[in-house]
Amino acid sequence: MELLGVIGNPISHSLSPLMHNTAFKKIKKQALYVPMLVDSKQLTDAIYGARALGFTGINVTVPYKEQVLANLTDLSEEAKAIKSVNTILFKENSIIGHSTDGAGFIQAVNHDLKYDLAQKKVLVAGAGGAARAIVYHLLRHGCHIYVANRTNERAKKLVSEFDSRDSRLTVIDISDSEIDRIIPMVDVVVNTTPVGMSTAKDQVPLSTQKLTDKHTVIDIIYNPIETQLLKLAKAKGCRTQNGLGMLVWQAALAWEFWWGISPPLDIMYETVKTAVKDK
Ligand code: ATR
Repeated sequence: MELLGVIGNPISHSLSPLMHNTAFKKIKKQALYVPMLVDSKQLTDAIYGARALGFTGINVTVPYKEQVLANLTDLSEEAKAIKSVNTILFKENSIIGHSTDGAGFIQAVNHDLKYDLAQKKVLVAGAGGAARAIVYHLLRHGCHIYVANRTNERAKKLVSEFDSRDSRLTVIDISDSEIDRIIPMVDVVVNTTPVGMSTAKDQVPLSTQKLTDKHTVIDIIYNPIETQLLKLAKAKGCRTQNGLGMLVWQAALAWEFWWGISPPLDIMYETVKTAVKDK
């Protein structure tokens, strides 16, 4: 029996154990995926402990995606660039970190929305870890990106970390007037902030005044399945996508990283969708 799992704090809300274990069962894979609540001071022990216990690999979630980098012997080019790891593979003499979040976002948009992001103009709300993962891939797709964040300095830091001279990456103010000025110039709006999650259900991360049916609006939140942002966008005729696709695809890409195989995506999708609806 292979062992996998996810490390985070809190962890009881994570849908990953259910999603992975259901997929293992479906394809009769002899593997078990466990949630692991870890205290910050014991993160190093937890990583080495998982290796000592013979885990094949683990996922890493909030708040350890950055902190965990110090415990790894090797990093993928992407993990290095965005300073974030959500997937670890244990090898005999190495502990390899990778991030599947950004590629998961792109795959979800490609496959679920059937939308090609290449060369598009994209407004990204937020400048945290999720934004970094997504911006990394949007840049590789030749997108022109506007980053708007509650804390402007953090958006500037994100931009400077990639390349401050890159004219395809611009920081803008998150004030309504500035968002209303920029939205008519973009094709896509992406929310990477937690604004709209079940604890703040009625809130939107940015002004939606200027959205029209030419826009695609993507929220990486999956609980609730349809955030207030997506509701308003839908009412204006926008193409919309929630965060379930990214959740499933980042997991699928973890399978690729651990075993070089694709999981049964449909069953994973159905499983998380039902679980979110039931909450
Ligand atoms: P993640 O790894 O999920 O991206 P993070 O690195 O903590 O998490 O980043 C969260 C992002 O959401 C940040 O851009 C944060 O803005 P600040 O840089 O100003 O903190 C944004 N965010 C979180 N709560 C928010 C709120 N209530 N209103 C607006 N933005 C918020």
